[in-house]
Amino acid sequence: MEKRGRILTGDRPTGKLHLGHYVGSLANRVRLQDEYDCYFIIADYHVLTTAYERPASIGDSVRDLVLDYLSVGIDPDRSTIYLQSLVPEVCELFLLFGMLVSVPRLQRVPTLKDVIRDLQLDSASYGLLGYPVLQAADITMVRAHLVPVGKDQSSHLEVTRELARRFNELYGEVFPVPETLIGEVPTLVGTNGKSKMSKSLNNAILLTDDASALRQKVMGMYTDPTRLRATDPGHVEGNPVFDYHEAFNDRSDEVAELKERYRAGRVGDVEVKRSLVDALERFLAPVRARRAEYEGRPHLVDDVIQVGSRRAQGEARETLRLVREAMGLTYYSSRRFEHGQC
Ligand code: TRP
Repeated sequence: MEKRGRILTGDRPTGKLHLGHYVGSLANRVRLQDEYDCYFIIADYHVLTTAYERPASIGDSVRDLVLDYLSVGIDPDRSTIYLQSLVPEVCELFLLFGMLVSVPRLQRVPTLKDVIRDLQLDSASYGLLGYPVLQAADITMVRAHLVPVGKDQSSHLEVTRELARRFNELYGEVFPVPETLIGEVPTLVGTNGKSKMSKSLNNAILLTDDASALRQKVMGMYTDPTRLRATDPGHVEGNPVFDYHEAFNDRSDEVAELKERYRAGRVGDVEVKRSLVDALERFLAPVRARRAEYEGRPHLVDDVIQVGSRRAQGEARETLRLVREAMGLTYYSSRRFEHGQC
């Protein structure tokens, strides 16, 4: 099938993915892989911008992330999954882009202030300041046209677009200026009804949760706090149990019926939650099964990473060739040494 262009998106390997990731990005990626030539980057260099003290611990998260991808249906035969640090060519583009953006411009990126506050840093390192520049290099390295990401990434994509335009203006058209595709799905709230689902806030249902962990989390979920008895009329809007039903229950008539009875005070929270457990089980059981199958094949994850990274590296080298040529960084090209000892 003729594809409509190239996508690059991905994640930092920082731990197992949860239902919020599925709703916010994974479901979209699974769908887009038929239409687009998709590259999914596992951005381990980006993890180092803050967690630089124990780099070796990133390895397990890389493996978990690949298994999460495969288990939800990202297909390594149709898409390219690769590890950023296995394509170190990106560092050259990162360096060159560093010349084309000012320090105050990067200091204005709102996520930088958030990270400094959340991690209580005294100031940003040079590498952390460059986070969006490295991301721009990831995206342009494969000459991507479209970048599907969550809303929180839009300020980084602005930097990417500026850098692609600036490069093209100065040296000639090498890069497509990539479009940002922000998911429309509202962020999935955590099981405690507070803020978004997040592993570190302990309000997440993981793709890897087993049936008993799932039941326990759902039965303990926050619901309508104004409702004291099952006969009180309940609130469906802003009730995370119904948000999850909406997002994951494939039986829409059941959801509609539960909502109606809830509003009328004719169903208890326990029944609504039990039916959510069943719905999530219908969703997660095949995900777990696929994961177990992939986990059982000893070299599979390594092979996926290796094959994908080689493919990405091929694209990266071609991009760098175009970049060097456009910039005129060819004054000492290898041809010069062909007959010498270098
Ligand atoms: N910054 C992204 C995140 O935290 C991860 C990422 C790195 C990325 N490089 C990328 C996303 C390139 C999209 C495109 O989620």
